[in-house]
Amino acid sequence: MGDQGSSWLPDAMSSVARDVDALFNFVLIVSTILFAAVIVSTIYFVIRYRRRSDQYVPERIKESKWLEAAWIILPTILTMIIFTWGFRVFITLSTPPPDSYQITVRAKQWFWEFEYSEGATSTSDLYVPVGKPIKLLMSSGDVIHSFFVPEFRIKHDVIPNRYTSVWFEATEVGEYRIYCTEYCGQQHSMMLGMVRVVTQEEFDDWLDEQSQDLPPVELGERLFTQYNCQVCHATDGSRLIGPPLNGLFGITREFDDGMTAVADDNYLRESIVNPGAKVVAGYPNAMVATYGSLSTKQIDALVAYLKSLE
Ligand code: CUA
Repeated sequence: MGDQGSSWLPDAMSSVARDVDALFNFVLIVSTILFAAVIVSTIYFVIRYRRRSDQYVPERIKESKWLEAAWIILPTILTMIIFTWGFRVFITLSTPPPDSYQITVRAKQWFWEFEYSEGATSTSDLYVPVGKPIKLLMSSGDVIHSFFVPEFRIKHDVIPNRYTSVWFEATEVGEYRIYCTEYCGQQHSMMLGMVRVVTQEEFDDWLDEQSQDLPPVELGERLFTQYNCQVCHATDGSRLIGPPLNGLFGITREFDDGMTAVADDNYLRESIVNPGAKVVAGYPNAMVATYGSLSTKQIDALVAYLKSLE
């Protein structure tokens, strides 16, 4: 039942999307008609009532009470329709149904973290069951971000030291892009995520799976992708914003202050939690210290994964 997207608007994939679109289209059509009417009458009047000679004195025109009443009453009615309609949609958008499933969202430079009621967590990928209202309770760990899913027609700022929330109900199974729409630093445009809308059974299975333990290297690899590390660090030896991370363990590194150190476990750990401490020569000190908030288990897994890269 989802509307087909067009070059005009993305697919309408949430329970409120079509209400938002209907209002948008109404305002757009009314504005277009009024705009055309104003432009056409302007052109008509310019030609019809132009000054034809120096002696020409236009005849005096008596105002029409009906015409004046019409252009007061009609726009008033139109704006009241738009206000009432918009207010209703606004109330719907800002009131999550009481049976909503709550997911906590944490935005950080530059990734999204999600925590589910059962304690499971995910990064970048937001898993939700189809046909169930989902309430997102959102906050930021650093600067202002903004959570935007075009197909759901929801967008909301995510702010440090305060909760904001949005809700949606996905109408079809599928994958929908999450964008950050508030400029939040160097990798803002890469702060992408994906809403993975699955059936209730798949969602329950996924929650179960999350509680099982992965081997450290596999967990580390998963975290590496989820936290978008590959945006700045290649694992095939090529140069990105930061140095490549393969073949690193046990070699001697040179730093921009002329010091050197052997890349052992402690060096790897320090470079994750306190990236400014030792900056590899020839690279900018560009990495944020966000990752200090990872759990010990996650850091151990990342270190294990980095050691495994050849
Ligand atoms: Cu986060 Cu832009």
